[in-house]
Amino acid sequence: MFEALCKESPLALLLERNDWGEYQHLMDSLREWSQYGLFTNRFLTLDRGALFTSAVHGSGHIERVMLLGALLCMLEVEKSEDTALVMDMCAYHDVGRVSDWLDEFHGARSSYKLEELTGRAGEELTILRAGVEAHSRRDADMDQVLAKYAPEDLPRCRHLAILLKDADGLDRVRIGDLDPDYMRTPSAKRLVPFAEELFKRYSAAQEELGQTPIKRDFVDRVILEQVRDVVQEGFFTREEDSAVTVLRGLGEVFDTALSPQLLQAAAAVSGAGCSGAQCGIVEGALLFIGLYYGAKGKTAAEIAAVSRAFAAAYAEKWGSLRCAELRPGGVHEDDPPTLCAGLTLEGIIFTREFILNERGQ
Ligand SMILES: [Fe+2]
Ligand SMILES: [Fe+2]
Repeated sequence: MFEALCKESPLALLLERNDWGEYQHLMDSLREWSQYGLFTNRFLTLDRGALFTSAVHGSGHIERVMLLGALLCMLEVEKSEDTALVMDMCAYHDVGRVSDWLDEFHGARSSYKLEELTGRAGEELTILRAGVEAHSRRDADMDQVLAKYAPEDLPRCRHLAILLKDADGLDRVRIGDLDPDYMRTPSAKRLVPFAEELFKRYSAAQEELGQTPIKRDFVDRVILEQVRDVVQEGFFTREEDSAVTVLRGLGEVFDTALSPQLLQAAAAVSGAGCSGAQCGIVEGALLFIGLYYGAKGKTAAEIAAVSRAFAAAYAEKWGSLRCAELRPGGVHEDDPPTLCAGLTLEGIIFTREFILNERGQ
């Protein structure tokens, strides 16, 4: 059934082989389940072009979440209409992401795309949108988010939203951050060992297809948390912009003191006052590069060469150096000031890696 996809999709390869070791019984039950066709149909018709491009939240994550969601539905759902909705949510819950990190509102952005992607309307669309928006918010906010959509059947909506959260949560194995105590349904707790095994088999299948599997330690978690705290504080508490926040983040990870004058000056540069010119993340990173390499005794010409290399690497990774092109959805007067928090975090991590590579470490 999955032959056509086997060259590009690791999950198609695994399903076609149907060799699941100690989980064979579980997977056989899924294949014999009366609603299995809803999973295969959504999987075979998945609009892969619509998915977020990323090793962390891209098609690999979505494929695994769809399978985990189907297993959860087999264990937790009676009506096929509900399984079909969970499958749609699993497929497209992350299409609104703009960053792998600190992107708490990506669920809301994804929810706007669901009508077009699924062709749903009425109560079904309401349930999809509510569940998808809620998935990226804290559990404590779930009822408030769902109520905003006023679904006709709130308990049903909540149940399906929880299944999406659990299916999504089970794939946290990929970042080495799955705690069974955080699973909301007993079935999800039961599926934790399978999620581990699925991730292992999926990564092996990726290698077989010449794709690069995610390394669980792809970013030092301590650094990530340190940077996340700086961005959180910069954007949400101090209400600073991206150039200043990038300087603060890099100052922290490289243990480099920043003078108040430098931070004051940096406040003026971000996208030239949000006019859409050069991105503040790039500007903050370039200011740090000047400061850092200047302190290491590099000449002005040497620092300019590093700046050029950085600009080329940044443009290659994100496609531009301009705020108007990088900012999610372009620049608008009523944009929330925190819109670029996720990109800023990524920019700090990217610049840190650039400098470490430059240093040959
Ligand atoms: Fe998400
Ligand atoms: Fe996700």
